[in-house]
Amino acid sequence: MDGNLLGHTYSPTGEYHLDEITFILLRGREVAKGDLVYVIHPKTGAPVVYQVRRVYPHRRVRGYEEALLREGRIIRDFEDSSIHAEAYQWGWIDEEGSLRPLRHPLPPNTPVFKADRGIVARFTRPEGDWKILLGVDPSTELEVELGVYPLIRQSCLICGAVGTGKTTTAITMICRAASLNPPVRFLIVDKDGEYASLIDRLGPENVLRVPWSRFFQPSEVDWEDYLTEFGWQKTWWNAKILMKALRRLYAEGRMVTKESLREAVRAVDPERLGFNKRLDEFENYRQQVINAVNTSRLIPEGDLDPLDPVRLLMNWRVVIMDLSEGVDTWEQKHIVIAQVLRRIFREALENRRFGCVVVLEEAMYYAPQRGLFEVGSKESRAKLLSIVKEIATNGGRNGVGLWIVTQRLATVEKTVVTQCANNIICHSLEDLDKQRLGEIVGDEFIQLLGDLPPGEAIVKGTALKCRFPIWVKVIPELYPASAETTPMSRFMSMELASLEAHT
Ligand SMILES: Nc1ncnc2c1ncn2[C@@H]1O[C@H](COP(=O)(O)OP(=O)(O)OP(=O)(O)O)[C@@H](O)[C@H]1O
Ligand SMILES: [Mg+2]
Repeated sequence: MDGNLLGHTYSPTGEYHLDEITFILLRGREVAKGDLVYVIHPKTGAPVVYQVRRVYPHRRVRGYEEALLREGRIIRDFEDSSIHAEAYQWGWIDEEGSLRPLRHPLPPNTPVFKADRGIVARFTRPEGDWKILLGVDPSTELEVELGVYPLIRQSCLICGAVGTGKTTTAITMICRAASLNPPVRFLIVDKDGEYASLIDRLGPENVLRVPWSRFFQPSEVDWEDYLTEFGWQKTWWNAKILMKALRRLYAEGRMVTKESLREAVRAVDPERLGFNKRLDEFENYRQQVINAVNTSRLIPEGDLDPLDPVRLLMNWRVVIMDLSEGVDTWEQKHIVIAQVLRRIFREALENRRFGCVVVLEEAMYYAPQRGLFEVGSKESRAKLLSIVKEIATNGGRNGVGLWIVTQRLATVEKTVVTQCANNIICHSLEDLDKQRLGEIVGDEFIQLLGDLPPGEAIVKGTALKCRFPIWVKVIPELYPASAETTPMSRFMSMELASLEAHT
């Protein structure tokens, strides 16, 4: 144990507190920010673990130092300086495996030891088998694992600036969780087709990718959504004709398609609608409705059978809802995603044999903070946001977890971020987002964050064995589809092609 002795606690004021300690390193010993150290519990003898938050050299201030430096003369007097380290308390683990805070006073100049693998392991490995590997703690190379139950029950937030490894982390977690026994089921809302590499990895028998429009349930569209699409007021005659036609299809239990709706529009009787002006005027309105139906993007062409996400999730472990086709159709995409999420949530409420994790990559497209990021229309955004919020708040306890991947925390709706922040995997962040996250999880976390290289993250949450932030180097299981074409490889292909063209 003495080999692990790092130094002794010290206080410039003479007061020694428990929650925070400062210790002075023995000559030649090393410690880094984020490392775990421990003191011996004065009563039980168990290791009480602290995490190092700050390390800095301290030298007695000399009056003439400033004058010497002005002349460019540096005092290389290491003898006179010492390394101070500040650490805050995690606690100790009792016989039952629960974490407890130290409450007995520590004597001044208590010895502080470096926590070895055996001790760190108690804090990084949740119990049970239903857990996934995330990566390793770089200071001890110990594996950091996440319990899957809390990741579903309390959701998860994966954040980080551009290119810091968010999608790699998410896809890695999905791949591992979908390979457990029992496998976790996922519905991934994939904006750019990034998750296609799961198909190669887990096989087409386990992963299904479906274009978003195949989920569209025309019969579930609010009639007012059509009016919104066409920009009509309810009181206009063309709106009244359309409503009448829809009502007729509804009464007959028929699917709404362009064909069936045109037919129903042709059958609308002006007199019964209360239209008592000239008939050619009415025909004019009727033609407007038919034109609108013809160009509508909400009304499907033919009788294609919409897919049921619940049925798909019963048969495939991972269902990818691919949004990459259709550039300009966020309004429609919002409506369809809202339908899919409602269907899933409703099923989970009614059926105790069903559950899944919903993954939203680039969450600001689905749950934007008002006024900061806007695609689709006001109505379509509101419709989707309400179900995302509902899942964020009540999903976990009903078997629907929510994993959110985001680059800009500030652009994602507050409730959703806060709900998912029970488990955070945080890669390097921009200052503005650091501040935002600090408001949610506290400054302790933010101070540890600093600048991390891609693929490394600070993790905190209920899915860890302990509730304190741990530094993790994520071990990728696979990479997102975009990682296969780097900018350089694109230019390489263009150069090769142009060389060929010239020969
Ligand atoms: N855990 C990791 N280990 C090693 N390299 C990684 C790791 N995670 C990511 N990388 C590297 O960083 C690159 C960016 O990763 P990724 O696409 O996951 O980041 P991102 O945060 O999702 O980016 P974007 O902001 O563009 O969505 C990848 O091409 C990969 O090479
Ligand atoms: Mg990404």
